[in-house]
Amino acid sequence: MLAGREPEQSVLNTALHRLCETQSGGCVILSGPRGNGKTALLKWLVNRAKAQKVGHLWLTPDDVASQRDLARLVNPSRIKQGLSAIGLAGRHESVEGSMRIEFEPDSHAAPVFEALHRRVKNRPCVLIVDEAHALDSLVGQALLNSTQKCLVREAPLLLVLAGTPDIQHALDSMNSSFWSRSRILGIGLIENEAVLEAIERPLADQGIALQDDAVRSEVIAEAQGYPYFAQLLGDALWESARRDQDAQAPSGSNHILGSADATYAFAVMSRHRQEFYETRLAELYDRALFDSARAVLDCFADQSSIHREQVDHVLEKTRGSAEHGAQALVQLQRLGFIWSPPGNNLRFEPGIPSFFSFLREYGYSSAPATAS
Ligand SMILES: Nc1ncnc2c1ncn2[C@@H]1O[C@H](COP(=O)(O)OP(=O)(O)OP(=O)(O)O)[C@@H](O)[C@H]1O
Ligand SMILES: [Mg+2]
Repeated sequence: MLAGREPEQSVLNTALHRLCETQSGGCVILSGPRGNGKTALLKWLVNRAKAQKVGHLWLTPDDVASQRDLARLVNPSRIKQGLSAIGLAGRHESVEGSMRIEFEPDSHAAPVFEALHRRVKNRPCVLIVDEAHALDSLVGQALLNSTQKCLVREAPLLLVLAGTPDIQHALDSMNSSFWSRSRILGIGLIENEAVLEAIERPLADQGIALQDDAVRSEVIAEAQGYPYFAQLLGDALWESARRDQDAQAPSGSNHILGSADATYAFAVMSRHRQEFYETRLAELYDRALFDSARAVLDCFADQSSIHREQVDHVLEKTRGSAEHGAQALVQLQRLGFIWSPPGNNLRFEPGIPSFFSFLREYGYSSAPATAS
């Protein structure tokens, strides 16, 4: 179930059509705070690709810790031929039946390109990398440069990368500029109608419905446009219906959730949300980012978005240097604490709804005072 992502689906659909019909490839990047549905969109894309009988390969950074892994996964059967075809100056040996290869540093990217090109040159392929912000930078560099070389040779390859809002920074560090001409889709909150759709449709499949617009309004207010909260809320409403059904004799057909059921579901959801916020707070402490987060939070006191310059300034002051400030900014974006929504690259907004309120009410007031 994917609600409220029609614009993004349309971009991906068009890219898929071009891939199938004109054999033209490209690169699309999905960037957004955690829990907004990047992986959900990628799963939808895979289903579209399957429906159109287009090949796909889904990778995460864990699968491709090295360029050797990348070359092997991209084209497992061809790596050996690819190596000999290009006369690679490297040592390779067989370990327990599988090929173990040690590449010379300079020739790292060659086997990746060779494997990728062999896989895609005659057959359209969607290559998906989820969590791409965490790619090892040499692996990422080999992937990006190999993709670019395939596209220059007009191979039908569609590369789709998804990651947290620091993904552009991560890609920048990979010494490949071609991605910057890609279509970048910011994956933010969803509209109220989409929240309702995301919640009501799966419930309807179970014969459960919300009683009226008053309950719907409360549901919208609780979910705050955040897909992850919508999912928690959907689960809590389902639990509430189950609880009713357990208490009474099962009615068999439809079950209507009224205000009392919703109140129960909101209490369940609120416990999960509290745990979620506490985990996010612990992440800030674990990374020694609490002071930085607090400094940024203070900038938002009376505005809903803040200029990049202001963030740079407070982080430089908090971290003691522009360089350390810039590192903190990358980490805060990685955690989804703040992000720049699409079309507004120079301003930051909170990444997770109400997390700032939570910090003000709970984390902020209970935080140990720090020497400044
Ligand atoms: N548009 C949507 N409609 C309905 N449910 C959605 C939608 N987007 C996301 N979800 C649900 O919200 C939850 C979070 O989505 P998902 O895991 O895709 O987020 P993400 O952006 O990949 O997060 P992370 O950065 O932590 O990996 C999932 O359970 C997903 O099914
Ligand atoms: Mg994800």
